[in-house]
Amino acid sequence: MTDLTAPYGPLAYFLDLHPDAGDFLGEALEGLGANPKRISPKWFYDERGSKIFNKITELEEYYPTRTEKSLFLNNAEEITAAIGAGAAIFEYGSGSSEKVEWLVNGVKDAAAYIAMDISRDHLIESASELAGVLPTPVAAICADFLESVSLPTDVLPPPVHMLGYFPGSTIGNMTPAVAQTFLNNASKTLGPGAQFLIGVDLEKEKPMLEAAYNDAQGVTAEFNLNLLHRMKRELDAGLDIDAFEHFAFYNENDRRIEMHLRATQETIITIGDAAFQFEKGETLHTENSHKYSIEGFCDLIGPTPWRMVNAWTDPKGWYGACLLSNRQSPDERLERR
Ligand code: SAH
Ligand code: AVI
Repeated sequence: MTDLTAPYGPLAYFLDLHPDAGDFLGEALEGLGANPKRISPKWFYDERGSKIFNKITELEEYYPTRTEKSLFLNNAEEITAAIGAGAAIFEYGSGSSEKVEWLVNGVKDAAAYIAMDISRDHLIESASELAGVLPTPVAAICADFLESVSLPTDVLPPPVHMLGYFPGSTIGNMTPAVAQTFLNNASKTLGPGAQFLIGVDLEKEKPMLEAAYNDAQGVTAEFNLNLLHRMKRELDAGLDIDAFEHFAFYNENDRRIEMHLRATQETIITIGDAAFQFEKGETLHTENSHKYSIEGFCDLIGPTPWRMVNAWTDPKGWYGACLLSNRQSPDERLERR
């Protein structure tokens, strides 16, 4: 189902690719039936989950958001000079679109800002607010960024080039193999000549990483447990939320924070006719958050159409901003053979 509305209130257009139609039920049944039990973190982000995530970004322990913000701001001139003039900015997983004003205002003659997210109401609200603030047309796309997306071509004037923007280290929520598929798709979506500015959380000492995902106020726990609330609300699941606790740790082998929902006692989740038994201590794996070195990130993009143009890090080396350029789209490479 595809649905393009142009204009849409203050937005130049709203394209709804209906990423959640029916999928939550299917993925919950499949993931709860798997061994070990798992589910995609994309299901955290309903209206409530998006708001809880905003609270996470303000926590003392959660260093990525403020570190990334100051990294961008401190290097804004150099980054926007490297991007050049006339780019249309397409933000993946835009959330509250709080990190885009410096970029849209800094890029010379920016052509447009297009926000894309899976959390529909939150996306429309945030993009509409920005439409009154930014100097460019603003548009929004509700889609799953793990699927290929074709941008509407005839609503906005064509830009000089596309700039993909993926802050927040959300790329870390993908396994390296999925991140490579994502980068291959983004190369096609953004087209030849495109660039990609990606925020990457860097490897660091375990206590600091673990504290960021186990905050003292329990906001991250609330975020994780929202998945169970959502199953109850949207899937009419039978489950006892009090029988689960938030569990997050750094897996040094795979260089990632893992978040799980751990059963504190034997318990069952039912969805329709299906029943899923949890032993005491058994977990539902809800999220990975991979951490990279700049070299490791270069290795990750190596087999994709992207090449590293420049990388900036903060003085403490906690966080990286990587600017990539699209060698050419894979289709074009094939056509030229
Ligand atoms: N870019 C913001 C928000 C990061 S939170 C920041 O840096 O603070 C991750 C965002 O990605 C959320 O807004 C969530 O709704 C969105 N998201 C998660 N999985 C997604 C998916 N599969 N497709 C599209 N958006 C997704
Ligand atoms: C969106 N993403 C990069 C966050 C992260 O740090 O992996 C989501 C999050 N999960 C727990 N806290 C924050």
